[in-house]
Amino acid sequence: MELSLSLEGDPSGSLQSNRSTPLHRQIYNQIRDRILSGQLEPKQRLPASRALAQSLQISRATVTLSYDQLLSEGYLETRPGAGTFVAAQLPETLLQVSAPTQPASPTPLPLNLSRYGQSIAQTSPWKTQPAAQYNFRYGHPALAQFPLRLWKKLVNQEMAASSHWMDYVTDPLGYEPLRVAIASYLTRSRAVNCQPSQIVITHGTQQAIQLVTQLFIDPGESIALENPGYLGAQRIFRSRGAKLQPVPVDDQGIRVEALTQLTPTPKLVYVTPSHQFPTGALLSLPRRLQLLDWAQQHNCLIIEDDYDGEYRYSSRPIPALQGLKANAPVLYVGTLAKVMFPGLHLGYVVVPTNLVQTFAQARWLSDRHCSLLDQAVLTRFITEGHLERHLRRMRLCYDSRRQALVTALKTSFGDTVEILGDSAGLHLVACLQLPLTDAEIIHRASQVGVYISSLQVHNLQPCQGAFILGYTEIDEAQIQTGIQRWATALQNPLQNP
Ligand SMILES: Cc1ncc(COP(=O)(O)O)c(C=O)c1O
Repeated sequence: MELSLSLEGDPSGSLQSNRSTPLHRQIYNQIRDRILSGQLEPKQRLPASRALAQSLQISRATVTLSYDQLLSEGYLETRPGAGTFVAAQLPETLLQVSAPTQPASPTPLPLNLSRYGQSIAQTSPWKTQPAAQYNFRYGHPALAQFPLRLWKKLVNQEMAASSHWMDYVTDPLGYEPLRVAIASYLTRSRAVNCQPSQIVITHGTQQAIQLVTQLFIDPGESIALENPGYLGAQRIFRSRGAKLQPVPVDDQGIRVEALTQLTPTPKLVYVTPSHQFPTGALLSLPRRLQLLDWAQQHNCLIIEDDYDGEYRYSSRPIPALQGLKANAPVLYVGTLAKVMFPGLHLGYVVVPTNLVQTFAQARWLSDRHCSLLDQAVLTRFITEGHLERHLRRMRLCYDSRRQALVTALKTSFGDTVEILGDSAGLHLVACLQLPLTDAEIIHRASQVGVYISSLQVHNLQPCQGAFILGYTEIDEAQIQTGIQRWATALQNPLQNP
């Protein structure tokens, strides 16, 4: 075939060997440009190197050099005995990400999601609780009170001490000194019965529950859970295709006698015994013992989610269910999100010895491990006594805010408010008897700069008139004003319809 190439700066086509671009490069550029512009089409045959060299009156080696370069970059391909061709698939076409010339097509791609994918695609998106002037959102500790300067110092020291935190860790169960520190902390402060080897460090409670569910539940199997109960756990169970068996709660926590009537017998029971989420009930001792006995007899595992058990105001923190009996069939789950800060997103699960290796495999498959730097800094925070010092300070702070909230609610709502779960944790529940929907009550609050949330999202049946109020991020004066404003906003439209 004919291929007429004009060489650099010379429309006449004669060779310019004294130009700054070497000849082989000039040939390379021109062939490449013609391929990319479409003048040379995929699969089109190129002249043999000898023929092209003769027509350009240059050495064959120069042409071979250009061809070799184009071959190695994938613009050309050779077929033995047939010659050199423009590649059928061009590299530039594959590599170039050009800006779309049209808006994205409104037609959705045909995606074949798994049952898990379909299940989570159908759930409503996770809503972050908005900022508000009087913010009674729950689940967030008082970040402003965290000893950030100290944390930064520890981070810097750990970073400087070595670079071991930059690599993969060898143990997916977690950083060994942290597992030792957490085992010791749980033994002395939560009466958990454990050895460091039983601690699995996770990305918070969410990952711990996810791992447990994956390891124990096949789609269609049953999980009993408190109702109302924690939506985060409910969603994991549902996405796994588990059959949910809601069990009612009262002022002593989950009603164990209702649990024992369930058919089929659940494989897992999810409970929050220290501070039932969201009602705040403390699981009574007789029920704890009854639950443990029943689970042992029925080969059922209990997930004990102790998300804020450190905060108990009128008495000492209640020991964990896990430590109540030897060999209790309990997977104890805890988080650092409430006692430290959620962005750290570290938690742990205490697992029976015979399950440790299975958890290690699952952990490695899931996401390898948590950040080693964070784990190392946390280890120092715990072992140097900062965690328990911080907790002591925060207990006083939250207790004072909690009392201010209870007083404000009683002052503003009198006998029309029932307060639940205020002796522990970081939130309480206010039940109001008003002829208004939850949505209207929340809307009127927002109009006066107050954020509160309905308990409804955590209930598997419709319910009305119960609101969760966190008191960690708002000081006593703001609590008083916020509740007053909310109460006024609820009363005024009733007085002047
Ligand atoms: C019952 C319960 N468990 C656990 C958590 C914390 O989960 P995580 O450690 O995944 O942030 C929360 C957060 O609000 C909760 O309400």
